[in-house]
Formats: sequence, C-alpha cells, structure tokens
Amino acid sequence: MDMIINNDTIIKDNDSLIREKSEDVNIPLSKEDENLLWDMLNYVKNSTIPEIAQRDNLRPAVGISAIQVGVKKKMTAVVLKDENGEIEVEYALVNPKIVSYSMEKAYLPTGEGCLSVEENHSGYIYRPARIKVKAYDLLQQKNITIVADDYLAIVLQHEFDHFKGILFYDHINKENPFYLDENAICIE
Ligand code: NI
Repeated sequence: MDMIINNDTIIKDNDSLIREKSEDVNIPLSKEDENLLWDMLNYVKNSTIPEIAQRDNLRPAVGISAIQVGVKKKMTAVVLKDENGEIEVEYALVNPKIVSYSMEKAYLPTGEGCLSVEENHSGYIYRPARIKVKAYDLLQQKNITIVADDYLAIVLQHEFDHFKGILFYDHINKENPFYLDENAICIE
C-alpha cells in the first residue's frame, strides 16, 4: 500500500476514526508497517522545510501518529529541530509505553497544536514534566528507553494520546482554559 501523507490525507477531528484506539504492532515490523513509519518520519522532517512543505502540501509538525493517517497501530514519528533547522531529536517509535512520570507538571504557554485539528483551541494543557518511555525505535533498530523532559516530554505525551483517541483540547479546562497552575513549569 502506497500512502501519500499530506494535509489532505491526514485524518481530521471531524472523522470519528481519530477517536479510535490503536493496537500494538508486531515486531519485527512487517514491510508495510516499516514503510508507513518511514513515510511518517519523512513527513515530519520535511514539514518544517518551507520549500518542500509548500510544494507537497505539508503542515509543519513535530510529530505524527499512525491513526492520523488512518492506521490504528501504535507508531509515532517525532522530529525536533534547533533554530537552524538541524535535527536535535529524532524517533520512529513502535509500541511506546510511558513507564514512569513526574508528579510535577509542565505546559506550553502558547498551547498545543495538532495536524488533525484545524480549528483554534486555546488554553493550557498540563502534562507530567518528565517521563520515561520504553519503545522499539526503527531508527536505532532496537528497544530503547527515553528519558524526556520539557518540550520533548510534552510532544511524546501528545502523540501517545493519539493511541487512545485523545486530542490535546480534551485536556483544556472548559470553564477556565487559561487556569494557571502555579506549580507547573512553563516551557518556552
Ligand atoms: Ni496531534
């Protein structure tokens, strides 16, 4: 199966599929799963290169999960770049699992965004500030443990929520979207 991932083919939140739960993936990966995960990783990498993004109709992102292309499997690609566009962090994760997390919370002052969400949903989202994750990583071709904090911890948790059909705005306080938790770390 050949899948072109772009802003037209990515499942949006008006499609109930985005709310479905993802399942564990068999390892070693099938060729099909492997190809999909590479395509997802390439989407994220290319999405922040303006010329390619414009040419191929890619919306900038730091992560994507398989359900967003209609595949109910626990796979996520994440790419974080520095201000010069150099890749700092890159993962192609299969069956990731959070094995521990801090009590301390963190949030992004500008809120979160998602390839599957086109409308604006403003508000703070509090997530554990530090997490430990176990997963199979296609890039390293082995099981890895990630100790993540700050922005990476937020991004990973956002992606893993997709496995449960949870979208970022589900976490926003409906009565008071900008309720300020004084104990939470604000990540710039
Ligand atoms: Ni998302």
